[in-house]
Amino acid sequence: MTYHLATYGCQMNFSDSERIAAVLEKHLGFQPAPENKAAILIFNLCSVRQSAVNRVWGNFKKTRGKRQPLIIFTGCILPPDREKIRRKNCLVLNIKDLPHWPEIIRKTLKHKNIKTLKQGSKGTMKQLGNEATQYSNNQKSAIKDYLSIAPRHSSNFTAYVPIMTGCNNFCSYCAVPYTRGREYSRPPAEIINEVSALIKKGYKEIILLGQNVNSYHGRSSSFPSSLRRGGPINIGPGWCNFPSLLKLLDQIPGHFWLTFLTSHPKDLSPELINCFQTCEHLIPYLHLALQSGSNKILKSMNRHYTAEHFIDLIKKVRAANPNVCLSTDIIVGFPSETQKDFLSTAAIMKKIKFDMAYLAEYSPRPGTTAARLKDNISPAEKTNRKNTLNEILKTTALANNKKLLGQTLETLVVSQDKQNIFGRTKNFKNVKIITTSNKQQTINNKKLIGQFVNVKITAVTAWNLEGKLIK
Ligand code: SAM
Ligand code: SF4
Ligand code: F3S
Repeated sequence: MTYHLATYGCQMNFSDSERIAAVLEKHLGFQPAPENKAAILIFNLCSVRQSAVNRVWGNFKKTRGKRQPLIIFTGCILPPDREKIRRKNCLVLNIKDLPHWPEIIRKTLKHKNIKTLKQGSKGTMKQLGNEATQYSNNQKSAIKDYLSIAPRHSSNFTAYVPIMTGCNNFCSYCAVPYTRGREYSRPPAEIINEVSALIKKGYKEIILLGQNVNSYHGRSSSFPSSLRRGGPINIGPGWCNFPSLLKLLDQIPGHFWLTFLTSHPKDLSPELINCFQTCEHLIPYLHLALQSGSNKILKSMNRHYTAEHFIDLIKKVRAANPNVCLSTDIIVGFPSETQKDFLSTAAIMKKIKFDMAYLAEYSPRPGTTAARLKDNISPAEKTNRKNTLNEILKTTALANNKKLLGQTLETLVVSQDKQNIFGRTKNFKNVKIITTSNKQQTINNKKLIGQFVNVKITAVTAWNLEGKLIK
């Protein structure tokens, strides 16, 4: 039996897809296949903006030809879309129920006789979907079980490790608390064991994931088994916060990078900022979502910080480590965002000089508090505002990159083409590494993928670096 998995959204969904692939392949013996050949299609959805949802529907329509594969939707799905999917005779499976997917899929395939489904056995699909949701009754243990499934990593040098999922913050615009539910933090021992095993296997880059990693609070009831005796890490029973988890992970022996995505400014503690100075493996990169530079809009977004507090945090991060590169998320055109509000965002962007910013036009999400506010900024104005911020970003990113000219940066090689190799520098920037283009060099380059090298930066643009390999 074959499957095709289409993943939308953030790294959290990509990480979930690595666990879905592991379950389908190890427990059901399925093989991955191209979309037009697979017997089962899985859409791992993102609902962060309407455009993300529309893209999935566009792709879904294309799959509805003569062929009738079994179609499963999972991931971040808002309740109205859940219903819409069921009406289309597809199965909706909660990601938290992943350990039970093999039973549900086996059962569905028994009924499947895909023709029957085509002719409108909506009842059967709904019943199977309902059966699946019965597993979620004990929410906490369901999440725990799904996060402890060993993923089929898609890289052998970069690993995503979820440390928590869900969100309690309820920013007024955001779908996540409604799609992923409340926060759940994995026990520290489980995370430490997973990361230690990855480093032993040769992984070089560990990306810790969570919707708001700095509200991580894992409960430890025991010592991690692999490190219990004689190991360098001591963790006793009790609660562990995010900085403590980072410090514990930092003690794992080996040459590796550690980073995390994403954090909320209201929870960026002095203890965490200090980690940028003290943790040897933590790379100098921080993603911290600003969302808006206007205090009025931040309040309406339910963000619980002010623009001044955000600026102060960045000052402290830069004092702890001046090399930290910064990226952020910004939403333009939030309900009632005036030109003055927008200009405050533009001003703070100029002041902070981000290296990267993910700029989004506000999109009302059904069921959120902000969806009750009038979406009163026109699409054209939203695009104008986004373009203006993009120009500011281009200027600050280029100026920051110019400072790197002539510097030698530790770089993880991630891919190659016929002539060059490509990498990510320690401060999370893409770099093209120029090498000679003979056949032997191409073979040598291949050996460098997944390895650390030193690269001297020789040219820069706003979005990319270029450099020479230093022996
Ligand atoms: N937890 C992260 C934080 O608070 O920084 C953000 C995770 S959210 C899934 C990713 C980004 O999507 C947000 O930071 C925000 O900029 C954007 N986003 C979320 N909801 C949005 C909406 N309704 N319209 C536009 N952008 C949105
Ligand atoms: Fe959404 Fe806010 Fe939670 Fe981030 S912190 S996932 S923006 S609700
Ligand atoms: Fe989207 Fe869910 Fe991530 S809504 S951005 S896939 S947490």
